[in-house]
Amino acid sequence: MHKKFIPFLKSPVLNDSDESTLEMFEFESSDADHIKNGILLCRKSGNWFPVHNEVLELIRPELMYPDDRKKFYEKYKDKFAELGIKYEAESANSGGDSVKNQFEQRSHYDDFAVDKSHNYDDYAMQPFWQAMDRKVFGEWKTKIKDGNMILDVGCGNGRSAGRIYKENTFLAGIDISKKSVERAIESSKEKGNYRFQTFFIADADRIPFKDGTFDFAVTSGVLSQLPDAVKTSREIQKKLKKGGIHFGMENNRSVFRIFFDFLTNFTKSWKKNKKGLTPEINKKMLDSWFDKGDVEILSYTSVYLPPTYYNKMNPEEALSKIEKTDKTIQSFPFLKNNGGLIIFEIKKIKTP
Ligand SMILES: C[S@@+](CC[C@H](N)C(=O)[O-])C[C@H]1O[C@@H](n2cnc3c(N)ncnc32)[C@H](O)[C@@H]1O
Repeated sequence: MHKKFIPFLKSPVLNDSDESTLEMFEFESSDADHIKNGILLCRKSGNWFPVHNEVLELIRPELMYPDDRKKFYEKYKDKFAELGIKYEAESANSGGDSVKNQFEQRSHYDDFAVDKSHNYDDYAMQPFWQAMDRKVFGEWKTKIKDGNMILDVGCGNGRSAGRIYKENTFLAGIDISKKSVERAIESSKEKGNYRFQTFFIADADRIPFKDGTFDFAVTSGVLSQLPDAVKTSREIQKKLKKGGIHFGMENNRSVFRIFFDFLTNFTKSWKKNKKGLTPEINKKMLDSWFDKGDVEILSYTSVYLPPTYYNKMNPEEALSKIEKTDKTIQSFPFLKNNGGLIIFEIKKIKTP
């Protein structure tokens, strides 16, 4: 856990408006910037949140990993005794239907992060996704400046963080899946980005950062997975500074969707999870999620042929073909908004 982010964190169990700071107790450090093992203590609620092998679990009790928590307590029993903290089993997994979606997502992406034969790293490295990531993240990156703070919601294995990386910017990635977070940490170390990035377990439904912390936020393929994409999109706006931008890429609600999905299903069947309530979105839906005057939304759609077609090429060829097809098709007004993906920017123009 990168120490730089600690003053911006807030407890996920307090009321939305309560911005009380969490206290850090470091048991072991990794280096001058990173905590390896320790706890964040919320004095007000009495809850503690472990940082275990660099992974912070800043999530409501019902969503915690209970066995890991217990092991962590046993390992640092003496430290807890010094702090006067007694072990109380959190009522894990007790959230019922309200957290059912989170558990489904978590188990799916935990599996997907470690399954060697069917791995999210391989999924993200398909030529089609390499081409789209290069195009889209390349456009977003031009807006990011030195010193900016970026929030990556649903960071997964660190793919989006790696693509948006710029030196001297600071990125915090959150995800519901521990195995994905561990992979994101590993990947950012491999790429040499870890001194500017941190990844931890948190729920996109209740983002544990103080309001107005970030210059930019990213959701890449995430809103489709959430129990309530509207709630999270509004929550993200709260975490942005005025003028901050939420960048997103999702499946577009296109008239060709059935055709795209039909063709995609013929190829290697990547692990399919249960999507949330908003598996596809379009510009009209985005507009309806916010009050007029609070945000400014820009969007375009891209990709008019199925990914399977582009996956037969190398990423450079795929990108060039995607751009050519986009240009041709977008000259027809009816087809313009019917690409397979929607790429959008939601700019915060008013602070409530
Ligand atoms: C399709 S993956 C996208 C990952 C990454 N953004 C990328 O571009 O590859 C969706 C991610 O959303 C995460 N996710 C699903 N529900 C979540 C929630 N409620 N809170 C935080 N992350 C969540 C999943 O664990 C998964 O890593």
